[in-house]
Amino acid sequence: MDNLSDKSLWRTAAYIDGQWVGETSHGSYDLTNPATGAVLAVLPRCKEAETDRAIEAANRAFGQWRKTSAQHRADILRRWYELMVAAREDLARLITLEEGKPLSEALGEVDYAASFLRWFSEEATRVRGDTIPAKLTSQRIVTLKQPIGVCAAITPWNFPAAMITRKAGPALAAGCTMVVKPASQTPLTALALAELAERAGVPAGVFSVLTGNDTRAIGGRLTGHDLVRKLTFTGSTEVGRVLLQQSAATIKTCSMELGGNAPVLIFDDADLDKAVEGVLVAKFRNSGQSCVGANRIYVQNGIFDAFAERFAERVAALKVGNGLEDGVEIGPLIDGGAVDKVQAHVEDAIGRGAKLLCGGVRSEAGANFFAPTVLADVPADADIAREETFGPVAALFRFREDAEAVALANDTEYGLAAYLFSRDAARIWRVSEALEAGMVGINTGFISNEAAPFGGVKQSGLGREGSHLGIEEFLEVKYLCWDGVTPL
Ligand code: SIN
Repeated sequence: MDNLSDKSLWRTAAYIDGQWVGETSHGSYDLTNPATGAVLAVLPRCKEAETDRAIEAANRAFGQWRKTSAQHRADILRRWYELMVAAREDLARLITLEEGKPLSEALGEVDYAASFLRWFSEEATRVRGDTIPAKLTSQRIVTLKQPIGVCAAITPWNFPAAMITRKAGPALAAGCTMVVKPASQTPLTALALAELAERAGVPAGVFSVLTGNDTRAIGGRLTGHDLVRKLTFTGSTEVGRVLLQQSAATIKTCSMELGGNAPVLIFDDADLDKAVEGVLVAKFRNSGQSCVGANRIYVQNGIFDAFAERFAERVAALKVGNGLEDGVEIGPLIDGGAVDKVQAHVEDAIGRGAKLLCGGVRSEAGANFFAPTVLADVPADADIAREETFGPVAALFRFREDAEAVALANDTEYGLAAYLFSRDAARIWRVSEALEAGMVGINTGFISNEAAPFGGVKQSGLGREGSHLGIEEFLEVKYLCWDGVTPL
C-alpha cells in the first residue's frame, strides 16, 4: 500500500467491464521500482481472452454511452478531474514509485493529466456539425459529428497518468468507450485512475484497463479486433509502424504520437539565462525520458562557449537520487537497457571527438541511474545525432549560419518538437516556419499543456492530442443530404 493516504487507490488487479480481475489463467508478473529494484506489486497477466472481454464490454457499453447527453458525460469527466485533484499526492507517489520521476515532477504530471479531464469535460458540450449550402435548391446539407466507437489506447511508461487522460478524456467526452493497455512498467497509476473513474460514475465497460507484460498478445487483439474502430498510441516510431500495419486489416482510424529526436537552436542573440534554463527543462525533464525532450542542441558559434560553460555548471549541480527523497531532480532511468543505451551514446560521441563537460558515467545512486551529462562539440555523425537517447545526456553541436542550423535540425526522419532561443522577431518567424516539427518552443523548453495541439509531422506521428482538435480524433463526420425542401 506504500504509504498512500487512500489505500483503495492501490489496485493490483486488471479492471475489465467494471470488475477487478485479480487472476487470469496466464499467471502474473512482478512490477519493480526502478529506483531500488525492489518488487512493488504482482499484477495479473492479461492476454487475448481478457482483451476480447474488455473489447466486447466496451462495445456493449458504447450502445448506452453514445446516447447519453454531452452534458452528462461532461459532468462525469469533471467529477473524475476533481477526484484526481483530491488524490494528487497519492497519484504522484504511485508515479514516482513505478516510473521513478522525482515527486515534484510527478505532482506536476498529475496536474497536467487532470487538466485533460477538465478541458475535455468542457469540450464535450462544444461539438458542432455544419450546415453547408447545397448545390440544388431543393436540398439541404447538414453534418453531424458522432463518436467513432470502441477505442483502444496503448500508453507509455514515461507519463503514466497524462498519456491516459490525454486519450481517455476526449474519447469519453465524444461518446466513445475505451480499453487501455498501459505500459507493463506503470500499471498502478492507470489502475488508480480506473478506481477514480468508477467513483466519478464512469459506467462499467466504458473505461477498462488491461494489465500484463505480453504486449504482443494484447496489442495483437486491440489492433486486430473488428469491434475496435480506433487505435491511439504513444510510444516509439518503431512500434507505431507495427501497430499501423496490424490495424490496416480492419481499417482502423489511428492516432500515433511517436518518437522525437528534438533539435534546439540557440542563436547568438539569445538571452543566455533563458536559454540555459529552457534547455535544462527541455533536456532533463523526467531524466531525459520524454518524446519532446531535447536531443540535439545546436548552439551558434558566438555564444557556444558561454552557453556550454553556464549550462554544464547547472547540470553538474543537479541532484540525483530516489525520486521520493527531498530535493532530487534526476531520478532513475526506467531499466538497465535504458542506461546501457545512454552509456553507448556517450561513449560513441566521445570516441568520435566530443568533449565531456560533466557526468559521462553511471551514477552511484543505483543500477538504473546515470549522471547528468553534457557533451560539447559533438560531431554530426555521432549516434546521438540520429537516435533519441531518452536519457540525461545533453549533446551540444556548433553551427555558424541560420540556414545551416535549420538544415541540421531538419536532417532527421522525426518531426515532433523543436525549440529555438533568439530575441530577433524576424528570425523567430523565419526559423519557426522552416522547422519540420509539429510543435516549436520559442524561448521556452516546456510546451506541453492541455490547450495546445500536441503531435508531430514526418515519422513522429499522426493526429493531434489536447486542444480543441483533440476531440475531433474521436469523432466521425456524417453528412445528411436532405432532398425535397421546396423554398417558400
Ligand atoms: C511524451 O513524452 O510522450 C509526452 C510528453 C509530454 O506530454 O510533455
